Amino acid sequence: MPTIKSGTTSAIESKADLVVIAATKGTRLGVSAAAVAAALDDQTFRTHLARAGTADGSGVFDGNQGQVTTMPSFGKIAATAVMVVGLGAADKVNAETLRRAAGVAARHARGFGSVVLDIGEGIEGAGRAVAEGFLLGSYAFTRYLSAKPGASNQVSVTGASKEEIDQAKIYAEATIWARDLVNEPPSGRGPQVVAEQSKERAVAAGLKVKILDEPALAKEGMDGILTVGRGSTSPPRLLLLTYEPKGAKGFVGLVGKGITFDSGGLSIKSGEGMETMKMDCSGGAAVIAAMTALPALGPKIKVVAAVALAENMPGGDAVKPGDVIRHYGGRTSEVLNTDAEGRLVLADALAWMAEQKPDAMVDIATLTGAMAVALGGRVAGVLSNRPELQNELLASSERTGEPLWAMPLVHDYRKLMSSSVADIKNISGTRRGGAITAGLFLRDFVGDTSWAHLDIAGPAWEDKPDHYLPAGATGYGTRLLLDWIVGRAG
Ligand code: BES
Ligand code: MN
Ligand code: ZN
Repeated sequence: MPTIKSGTTSAIESKADLVVIAATKGTRLGVSAAAVAAALDDQTFRTHLARAGTADGSGVFDGNQGQVTTMPSFGKIAATAVMVVGLGAADKVNAETLRRAAGVAARHARGFGSVVLDIGEGIEGAGRAVAEGFLLGSYAFTRYLSAKPGASNQVSVTGASKEEIDQAKIYAEATIWARDLVNEPPSGRGPQVVAEQSKERAVAAGLKVKILDEPALAKEGMDGILTVGRGSTSPPRLLLLTYEPKGAKGFVGLVGKGITFDSGGLSIKSGEGMETMKMDCSGGAAVIAAMTALPALGPKIKVVAAVALAENMPGGDAVKPGDVIRHYGGRTSEVLNTDAEGRLVLADALAWMAEQKPDAMVDIATLTGAMAVALGGRVAGVLSNRPELQNELLASSERTGEPLWAMPLVHDYRKLMSSSVADIKNISGTRRGGAITAGLFLRDFVGDTSWAHLDIAGPAWEDKPDHYLPAGATGYGTRLLLDWIVGRAG
């Protein structure tokens, strides 16, 4: 990650290798950008924008979102090069616009050692958004690349306060940690490894940590997690994290799906279907990352997290269609499709969390392909038994720029899940409403606890980079959970 700090140097004075300025639609320039344009000679500057084309392939730069172009300063200002990023319509610029523009800048600023970002003029919360977008956009998973792309290492955000930079760093670092965890090749980071590595980090951050291994899971009656893990040679774990600051008021629970690889089990996926299934621990990663960032943020609220870690594999002892599980708390489920494994591990974790009596609990999971079909690759779905809680999460999503949409828990569909041998079966027998029936399955295990379920199957992963989203794991939900917890703490 580049080092980032607050700065007061405007683009025109900066001696950085690269200064980044912004234009809104119609190539309208703010005070700072106009000064640079004038120094470069307005005519030359505008000719460059009109002729040089833009990296998004749209041809002429006219200040639209996503547009970016870089030109040499030819010694007309102290900085070596000038990058112009588009913000779109001037009256619609907000924190997310800036976050995205800064992300675009970060990806095109690779190789410039020092960068000054002077793009947030006159926008509320600009410093934090620009810093966060740049840090998130700088990220690429390069661990196994022989030729690593260059990075900017000294970044200064004009007009940001130190507090804004600090906040941005905490949120971005947590998100990046979640991305790294998910991007890591799955055979090297099974349930035990994820549990141990997370423990190390969590303890260092000041959290209380407990790992339930197989005997402990058996003792607790967590047969959902054990059963899903049975087909793998890497045994399952339940990771429990507690953040309890002095003077805490209120208590919330987080639950994450941590399937470190989802082959589908005996109901095996197609080759193509499992290409990206190392991402099936994205919910768990968001939970662990958010928890580990809490001590630095210091919200006065108790937070307990449970991350169900298992590898879903078709080994000799794998769960079979027709098997019945007795989950934590005693409710039973009939497994008819071993690829609907997320709900089986979450059932244990949710039932356990409900028993801890939090004021509210949120689970986050790459639960159903159906949610990605419904909402596409950029939007997660939320299902909840409490409209107020759902609204809190929708509000957080607006603030963090992680799109979220409410889906209904249609009670009439519950009968599609009824089983003649157990309390519920793990599939509905139809693809229709698959994200909802998955939510209804979970609902059976939460009792009357305030609960919301975030299905992030779509936005957890990107095939190619866009604004501050990298290719691969996005870390979706990390910032949203943090924002929600900070908001709950008041
Ligand atoms: N992890 C998958 C869901 C998923 C699919 C996430 C694609 C991201 C992208 C989940 O465990 C799964 O396999 N769900 C099944 C459920 C079905 C068998 C009822 C699905 O969505 O097909
Ligand atoms: Mn599955
Ligand atoms: Zn899965």
